[in-house]
Amino acid sequence: MQDKLSSILKISQQMNSERDLGALLDLVAREATRLLEADRASIFLLDREKMELWSKVALGSDEILRFDARKGIAGASAMTGKIVNVSDLQNDDRFNPAIDSRTGYRTRTLLAVPLQNLIDGEVVGAFEVLNKRSGVFNQEDEELLKSLAAQAAIAIQTARSMGELARENADLRREVEGRGARSRIVGTSLRIQSVLQLIDRIRDSSVNVLISGESGTGKDLAARALHYSSPRSRRPFVALNCAALPENLVESELFGIERGVATGVNQRIGQFQAADGGTLFLDEIGDLSLPAQAKILRALEARVVERVGGRTPIPVDVRVLAASNKDLEAEIRKGNFREDLYYRLKVIHLHMPSLREIREDIPMLANHFLAECCRDSGKQLEFSPGVLRQMSQAEWPGNVRQLQNEIRRLVACARGRTITEEDLLEGIPEGRSKPRSVAAAPSGESLKNAVENLEREMIAGVLRSTGNNQQKAAKALGLSRQGLINKIKRYQLGALATAL
Ligand SMILES: Nc1ncnc2c1ncn2[C@@H]1O[C@H](COP(=O)(O)OP(=O)(O)OP(=O)(O)O)[C@@H](O)[C@H]1O
Ligand SMILES: [Mg+2]
Repeated sequence: MQDKLSSILKISQQMNSERDLGALLDLVAREATRLLEADRASIFLLDREKMELWSKVALGSDEILRFDARKGIAGASAMTGKIVNVSDLQNDDRFNPAIDSRTGYRTRTLLAVPLQNLIDGEVVGAFEVLNKRSGVFNQEDEELLKSLAAQAAIAIQTARSMGELARENADLRREVEGRGARSRIVGTSLRIQSVLQLIDRIRDSSVNVLISGESGTGKDLAARALHYSSPRSRRPFVALNCAALPENLVESELFGIERGVATGVNQRIGQFQAADGGTLFLDEIGDLSLPAQAKILRALEARVVERVGGRTPIPVDVRVLAASNKDLEAEIRKGNFREDLYYRLKVIHLHMPSLREIREDIPMLANHFLAECCRDSGKQLEFSPGVLRQMSQAEWPGNVRQLQNEIRRLVACARGRTITEEDLLEGIPEGRSKPRSVAAAPSGESLKNAVENLEREMIAGVLRSTGNNQQKAAKALGLSRQGLINKIKRYQLGALATAL
């Protein structure tokens, strides 16, 4: 007995250093089997809300066994807090043969004790050992199992509260990150302030939002801010660029695919399912083909997805944020975009202003990016007032992204402590000084046309000077590669590319 007590002490020390509940239960069950010379041991945890006991089917297994706590012997022990020792189980009417038949095991003798924390008296489950190797479980076994159960109850409660603590920590971290996404949107202009107000106003809801705006205006940033300030912030944010999806992969990418649909295909879940409970951000939605639009509409309406090659609909709960730099209403008129999908996505419409509409924010944005770059590079730099003035007047067809890239470049090339107008002029892409010519544009030409002409000229110029290297050209223009490709399409500059 002395021997056994000292091993209980050792086990309890081991238990208290084990914080993973599953591993802890395995450890206790294994030790109980050894100490009591039993064939098996099971630990059942009590789910008071459902009045159920649950346990893993076997050591190391993930399969869970659940049954009514008001039936069976483990249940009797957990509910009454008493020890139950049965020497002839098959003839005991409290025995629940359903469990044996489910586990395929024949129980002869059984000893069950409550898992009771002796400090606060709370019963958290039952601990039972089955089939003593020789004879029946005696009083010494009862005492042993009781001490082991008391230790286990404390350790289980500790592991549980540690688990809760870890979860709370993770939640807190996400919330802080989320607030981060919103506060990364910089600007005091009315336009930016109303974007922030809209994000705050709908923070408690899960409505779909359509985010419009030119390339580089912060649509991505806004989508993240919407997700992380919503009740879904603790669930995944999945971003999918529709323009980058080849037509033949759209369906499997969105909805998943069953194993064996084609040779060598493994089962894969789609992005809708990956975003379950969270947010799916469909970027460049205007580039989605009509058949793909129909499939998305169906998923949104029925709130289920079907995998390619699958027959069972899988329920999903997804909030969709969609972004596009195309004028979707014009696309609807041209027959390229489904009107019904448009209205489903546009429950709320969030428009990100172009940089020329928020010129008053340029100095603040520039300083924000400067501080960011200085932090990353360890440099200490500032702008001369002249350079800020010039930046505020310049044309930024690539919007905030272009401004950000320009500042990265300026910081990388900076020689002194102050960045001045000369630095700015040095690397300005050809055509940047064109605004003056726009101002002097022939009367009758609308501003929109003038801007478009300028944009076309600039893109053509940069494509030419980079030998049609889209990567380089996009960088020089402050556009994403896809943004550039879209513009090449829009201005039909593809011919230029082949001519090069
Ligand atoms: N108001 C803002 N405040 C701070 N940073 C911004 C703001 N708007 C945009 N940015 C930054 O500019 C860059 C481009 O923004 P983002 O990628 O969100 O644009 P986008 O509209 O999604 O562009 P695209 O249409 O090319 O996908 C990002 O680094 C983003 O953090
Ligand atoms: Mg984007």
